[in-house]
Amino acid sequence: MRGTYKAVEVSARGTLLIVERPISEPGPGQVRIRVEACGICHTDAYTVTGNYPGLTLPRVPGHEVIGRIEALGPGVSRWTIGQRVGVGLIAGEDGVCEPCRRGDIVNCQSPVTSGVNVDGGYAEVMIAEARGIASIPDELSSAEAAPLLCAGVTTYNALRNAGLRAGDLVAVQGIGGLGHLGVQFARRMGFRTVTIGRGRDKEKLAKDLGAHLYIDAAVEDAAAVLQRMGGARAILATGTSGDAMGRLVAGLAARGKLIVVGAPEDQIQLSAIPLIFGGRSVCGSLTGTPIESEDTLAFSVLENIRPMIETVPLEQAAHAYARMMEGKARFRMVLVTKDGAAQSPSL
Ligand SMILES: NC(=O)c1ccc[n+]([C@@H]2O[C@H](COP(=O)([O-])OP(=O)(O)OC[C@H]3O[C@@H](n4cnc5c(N)ncnc54)[C@H](OP(=O)(O)O)[C@@H]3O)[C@@H](O)[C@H]2O)c1
Ligand SMILES: [Zn+2]
Ligand SMILES: [Zn+2]
Repeated sequence: MRGTYKAVEVSARGTLLIVERPISEPGPGQVRIRVEACGICHTDAYTVTGNYPGLTLPRVPGHEVIGRIEALGPGVSRWTIGQRVGVGLIAGEDGVCEPCRRGDIVNCQSPVTSGVNVDGGYAEVMIAEARGIASIPDELSSAEAAPLLCAGVTTYNALRNAGLRAGDLVAVQGIGGLGHLGVQFARRMGFRTVTIGRGRDKEKLAKDLGAHLYIDAAVEDAAAVLQRMGGARAILATGTSGDAMGRLVAGLAARGKLIVVGAPEDQIQLSAIPLIFGGRSVCGSLTGTPIESEDTLAFSVLENIRPMIETVPLEQAAHAYARMMEGKARFRMVLVTKDGAAQSPSL
């Protein structure tokens, strides 16, 4: 043992507790990371409430992790000590299930899942599978790179894999951690970009992020507005309400897709008619692989896309988590460790 590190763990359902843990050595194929920053994703709620399938407590949440490798386990060759890397949600495939054997590793049936079946990044130190980490470009600070490891890759992949073409009408529903990045990606990918929010307070922000049009779903029928514009080729649904998602299908053009990335607890209600007449579809998309995170980071550097973040010290994780859950974050809370603060003194 080489001393201890600070972590914030879910000790019991609903309780985030600061604890001191012994530092352990990385096992075969693993690396030990000195964490600098970790974003707070809404999916962390499934760890904090204890509801994520396969979760056992205590557990350290966090899957938007950036840090530097400080120890290599046996058999790790590609990575070097001191290298800055990131860890997302799906942080190691088993390599033997059917999706893995078909090369679809993000859909692995028994993955290593950060903050769920292994400890995540609300900590000064994290052990990660070397096959589950991504390289971080120098142009991004650790705090601004962190949200790209989940919110970023999730929205970037969903949009780029949707079979869209430049100029297509694309709507992003919800302007939170995912949505505010989705808007930027949609605009920079060349789509006619609409955002769907609730209330007028995010309208200016949405337009500053690149939206051509803002629809206030609190007073307007978003599907009707989209139909008047010719219908959306795709709607990227990032919100946490299934009820709000189902009503959007009527805003799709023929062959349009509702891409579900938000994970609401309530059911999505669907009418069969717009699915049948017009061949519309509903599909889901799960985050991305480490190399796809690297693609997301590269595109963000290329197109000058950055998350809007609020940074807080690791010790204030419970406060930052509560702020995210109350919908007050603009737009991503990012925990910064003392090593992260030392690397970027302005944080
Ligand atoms: N598919 C994946 O791989 C993946 C990856 C990461 C996260 N997620 C899921 O994506 C969702 C969003 O995560 P996040 O980190 O972006 O959360 P967040 O920052 O807390 O944002 C929550 C979003 O939900 C919207 N919302 C809340 N209540 C709503 C309602 N009643 N009707 C419509 N919209 C509502 C908010 O929209 P307004 O702007 O209108 O307030 C906001 O955009 C979560 O369910 C999370 O678990 C999925
Ligand atoms: Zn996430
Ligand atoms: Zn697998």
